[in-house]
Amino acid sequence: MIIYNIGQLVGIQPEGVLRVEGPAQGQTGILENAWLAIEDGRIANFGPMATCPVIPSVASVSHDSNVTDACGGMVMPGFCDSHTHVVYAGSRDGEFLDKINGLSYEEIASRGGGILNSADLLHRTSEEELYEQSMVRVREMMAKGTVAMEIKSGYGLNPADELKMLRVIRRIRETVPAAVKSTFLGAHAVGRGYTHEAYVQAVIDMIPQAAEYADFVDVFCDEGFFTVEDTDRILTAAEHLLTPKIHANELAVSGGVQVGVKHMALSVDHLERTTDAEISALKDTWTMPTMLPGSSFFLGLPYGRAKDFLKAGLGVALASDYNPGSSPSGDMRFVMAQGCIKMRLTPVEAFNAVTLNSAYAMGVSNEYGSVTRGKKAALILTEPGWDLTKIAYQYQTPFIRQIFL
Ligand code: NIG
Ligand code: FE
Repeated sequence: MIIYNIGQLVGIQPEGVLRVEGPAQGQTGILENAWLAIEDGRIANFGPMATCPVIPSVASVSHDSNVTDACGGMVMPGFCDSHTHVVYAGSRDGEFLDKINGLSYEEIASRGGGILNSADLLHRTSEEELYEQSMVRVREMMAKGTVAMEIKSGYGLNPADELKMLRVIRRIRETVPAAVKSTFLGAHAVGRGYTHEAYVQAVIDMIPQAAEYADFVDVFCDEGFFTVEDTDRILTAAEHLLTPKIHANELAVSGGVQVGVKHMALSVDHLERTTDAEISALKDTWTMPTMLPGSSFFLGLPYGRAKDFLKAGLGVALASDYNPGSSPSGDMRFVMAQGCIKMRLTPVEAFNAVTLNSAYAMGVSNEYGSVTRGKKAALILTEPGWDLTKIAYQYQTPFIRQIFL
């Protein structure tokens, strides 16, 4: 398959670049007036139109479905969303009014709303129904250009319901063309009927079975949820079975970054509240700091200090956090726009944060996240006239012409 007349081919990276950090996050390869060839679902080759293997005037009248005229549109790697909770039942729109009336995320949770509310709903929902409801969101994400996503458990909060979630995530992985990574987030909140201590032990006991389904383990290491000590115990139990990805520093400076780095977490996520100590702790590690501007927007929290991370030479990923309580949106283009508008990232920095670096943060950047020969041809073709700046600037105008997945 050949795409020709590409106005801009964006996101070109040499082979072997798995993430970009510091000043490199502000750069990406761009080829003007290009073509791209796909073979067996992978990027086989690309180059300037002068070297195009098809003759445009012939291709335009041939009606060959293997040849696509991009009509001057931009081609870019699809979005990679390394942090979502899209498997959930029902909705939490009932809490929306409480939120509007001024209750905080913590206050809603402490009244038995929040995550426990979602767990009750999930418990009452059949596995089939949970799959159907979740697939509506997964299809929505794919239609908006997401080609790889991570999905967490964490609304089960007992062994049977956590496994139900992990089976649904596996079924989604088996049914959609997008890449799906699975995370065991048993430690999302203390399940009903457990003491805190008994629940931490229950999570530890679930790990071997969860590891049959999941790639990663996550802990909500934050004020009012799980402590650094709980996190340390859970990650120690998961060693050699599941790679950590940690929820840290959303509600308080929690110590979650440091305990994540200690256990070689692939990412530490949220980071709405960070001091310079967290930035230092992340230097020279393989851990990707991941920020979730959708939850800053929805909960009215500070936005992460992405610019300071870049100045310190680190890379930053951005993800949607799509979930019913703190970010009911999986729109990665809006995430990218917020990266620019609220976090002052340049369009290229934000673009790398929602493609290559977010692919890295879920361990798929060898296959996704850039235009590189041999990588999956998981691409967005835009309408004519779009570029990276315009996607973030004119952030609500539809821009996608076609998705290759
Ligand atoms: O990433 N902070 C913890 N977990 C989710 C919210 C989950 C929920 O409220 O349902 C988050 O924001
Ligand atoms: Fe989350």
